[in-house]
Amino acid sequence: MQESDEFWDFYWEVHLQDMEDLGKREAILAISKLIRRLAVNPDQRVRLLELGCGEGQIIGALVEAHAQVPSINASHGVDYSRKSIEICRRLYPGMTFTEGDFTHPDQMAGLGQFEIVLLVNALHEVFSTGYSRDLGEVAVEQSKQRVEQALTSAVEHLASGGYLVLFDGLENCGDIHERICIRFRHWQARRRFETFSHEYRPFRIAYRETGDPFVVELSYRDFTRYITKSIFLDKHLWQTERLESYQYFNEDEFRQVFARLGLVIDELRTLTVNYEKWYSEVEIETASMDFPVEHILILARKPGQPE
Ligand SMILES: C[S@@+](CC[C@H](N)C(=O)[O-])C[C@H]1O[C@@H](n2cnc3c(N)ncnc32)[C@H](O)[C@@H]1O
Repeated sequence: MQESDEFWDFYWEVHLQDMEDLGKREAILAISKLIRRLAVNPDQRVRLLELGCGEGQIIGALVEAHAQVPSINASHGVDYSRKSIEICRRLYPGMTFTEGDFTHPDQMAGLGQFEIVLLVNALHEVFSTGYSRDLGEVAVEQSKQRVEQALTSAVEHLASGGYLVLFDGLENCGDIHERICIRFRHWQARRRFETFSHEYRPFRIAYRETGDPFVVELSYRDFTRYITKSIFLDKHLWQTERLESYQYFNEDEFRQVFARLGLVIDELRTLTVNYEKWYSEVEIETASMDFPVEHILILARKPGQPE
């Protein structure tokens, strides 16, 4: 029996309560809808492959929710963190997990093909591993190529007619070097900005004092990085978040890479879930400039007939 959309809206409302302020909740909802759409055809297999599955929050929740789809138990998660894979195996004993680096074709050989391949908050980490000690920053062009290579290998694991689902951070499409003035709303916000500018590793953060201790001027690129990381400052997670640039491609670059890979974009959405937290930290002084868009969600199809 196919449950109604109302059933699923209620199901996810109950099961994703802890993720209310996380953008990746939207990815789960979109993938669940896709699974339901594919599963309408009883001959269609629906197996998921998640590259960079972490502790299985995404793939585990989806496989559990759609356990009535016969082929879904053949879903597979990959991560290079041994600890995360051990947790996945313990939490989801019916599924298969591989400890490995999904950017290394040798380690992914023999994995086979899947109807849905997921990359949720994983590729920005691939980009960030392109940090160059010599440059003191991420080597941007090489790191973008590294991301494109990772996407190319992800597509190799996609069956004909299958879907690649990508959820991640988004670079602004406009001039990222344009200058912006921001006003901190309180001293803690200013102090957190100091922590960010000293400890964030992927790019050197340069800003100009304005004479008003509550106002600084910086590039939109650096502002985007600061504001999207501001929710982690003063938290334990900052120690890992400080090493990663959440932004790498802008929307045009995502579209171009997907076209080069022969994927047809079915749905592309941008979203921001942390506006309120950002507003409570800073105010934008420069007229005509606004907060950046936080995330991108893309569902793209590999042409061909499903097997
Ligand atoms: C931010 S976490 C996201 C986890 C999961 N997708 C989620 O959204 O809950 C990113 C995960 O990708 C993994 N990862 C990053 N680069 C990887 C690579 N090249 N090969 C395997 N795993 C990778 C990290 O170990 C981490 O668990």
